[in-house]
Amino acid sequence: MIEQMSEHRYLTFALGKGRLANKTMELLEEIGITCEEMKDKNSRKLIFVNKELKLKFFLAKGPDVPTYVEYGAADIGVVGKDTILEENRRVYEVLDLGYGKCRMCVCGPESAAGLLRHHEMIRVATKYPNIAKDYFYNKKHQTVDIIKLNGSVELGPIVKLADVIVDIVETGSTLKENGLEVLEEICPLSARMIVNQVSMQMEPERIKKLITDIRGRLN
Ligand code: PRP
Repeated sequence: MIEQMSEHRYLTFALGKGRLANKTMELLEEIGITCEEMKDKNSRKLIFVNKELKLKFFLAKGPDVPTYVEYGAADIGVVGKDTILEENRRVYEVLDLGYGKCRMCVCGPESAAGLLRHHEMIRVATKYPNIAKDYFYNKKHQTVDIIKLNGSVELGPIVKLADVIVDIVETGSTLKENGLEVLEEICPLSARMIVNQVSMQMEPERIKKLITDIRGRLN
């Protein structure tokens, strides 16, 4: 009876809108999970259903994905490790999906290297204040002034708002084109699958099979 009920329950995925969601749907398609109505690129719809497989997908802003998963509005989420670290939600991180690879770094002009080395009181501009705080306070034991920005963080040192930035570096071209460089590496990043803690208890078979299938595909 319980088995039957769980077969009828929808499993809901929250995906970070954009490239990450597209990559994830490509990967899911390889293990036989498709969602035809999601393929219409002109659609402004945010929620999509596959009735046969009893799956729902919704597109959320990346930083909100761990929130939906923690509260159980989604059973499963796909989001960057940067967001997982920054949001620090109570979710299980179950799989490194391997794509969306980049690095979280401290960057700035070459001249700022000495300020870091000597643990000077510096200003750090970032979209990721929690990651920056954890790195400077807990790992480096350096007191800094953290300034939250919402994007185009590379502007910070150029317009003298900050000495350095904490930001994602993928190809390094944004830094290069703005006369900045990587000064310290904080951690590697990539897309991860996260799972709601209660969903994991309620639907262990379905979720574990999904993880196994994806892992098999990635290998
Ligand atoms: C990200 C990141 C860097 C850039 C790094 O910004 O914040 O600015 O990409 O990529 P690169 O090393 O390949 O140049 P995003 O494009 O997400 O926009 P944002 O500045 O609004 O955050």
